[in-house]
Amino acid sequence: MNLYESIFTRKSTRDFTATPLSESKIDELRGFIENVPPLLPDAAISYKIVGPEGVKGMGVPKAPHYILISAPPQVLRNTCAGFLFQHAELFLYAEGYATRWLGMLKSKEQDKNFVIGMAFGEPAKPEHRTIEEFDRKPLTEIAQGNDPRIEAARLAPSGLNGQPWYFITENESIHVYQKQKIGGVLGLAYKMMDLDVGIALCHLAVASEELGRSFHFSITESAPKTPGGFLYLGTVK
Ligand SMILES: Cc1cc2nc3c(=O)[nH]c(=O)nc-3n(C[C@H](O)[C@H](O)[C@H](O)COP(=O)(O)O)c2cc1C
Repeated sequence: MNLYESIFTRKSTRDFTATPLSESKIDELRGFIENVPPLLPDAAISYKIVGPEGVKGMGVPKAPHYILISAPPQVLRNTCAGFLFQHAELFLYAEGYATRWLGMLKSKEQDKNFVIGMAFGEPAKPEHRTIEEFDRKPLTEIAQGNDPRIEAARLAPSGLNGQPWYFITENESIHVYQKQKIGGVLGLAYKMMDLDVGIALCHLAVASEELGRSFHFSITESAPKTPGGFLYLGTVK
């Protein structure tokens, strides 16, 4: 399976075996992460891979490995982090492993630049699904215009499955917007919508690569009017 195919079958798990990945597989993952082109050229995102002894937090599933993602304050910090590590998520699925982004996870070591974590390892049972089994909003609720790459973004995971994104296509460009609030009691406390949109942008980038289209993300002055309740984040050209 390649990254693009993972988009259409992946599923998060909370149920991992205790079996760690081999050293060589972890090295492969590190090599993969180091080669992902950043969303913005100056993005400075770092990470550590730790075991269960390195993490704490409410409701954190037991897994053999966790990625702890850190980044100092910078433009679209969370969006750049979501973009980079969703690539890692798809890589792990493509290799037969499973993952879960974890907004509730904290690093045991003090880290003032900590952004978010992700659990990964071997799933206790295979984690795959068909497109019909994805619980996602229809395209008409998240996009104006037609671009086959938006279907890949539609299937992206997000915290509380809030799917806080909106896309407007214009010629060859896709303008990208982030919802300012997601609904529900838990949604009131949820603040990672910008990271979620970075995850969806990763799916757009992977779809662009697969379909032979370019992917350059930038912030332009001439984006269409921002839909009510959303923020303009940038444009894919
Ligand atoms: C930014 C982010 C934070 C998340 N935080 C948690 C979490 O704290 N606990 C949890 O069990 N799942 C968490 N999830 C997993 C989502 O609930 C899950 O991705 C979503 O329901 C969609 O399901 P899927 O990943 O199987 O497509 C998080 C996902 C994202 C993207």
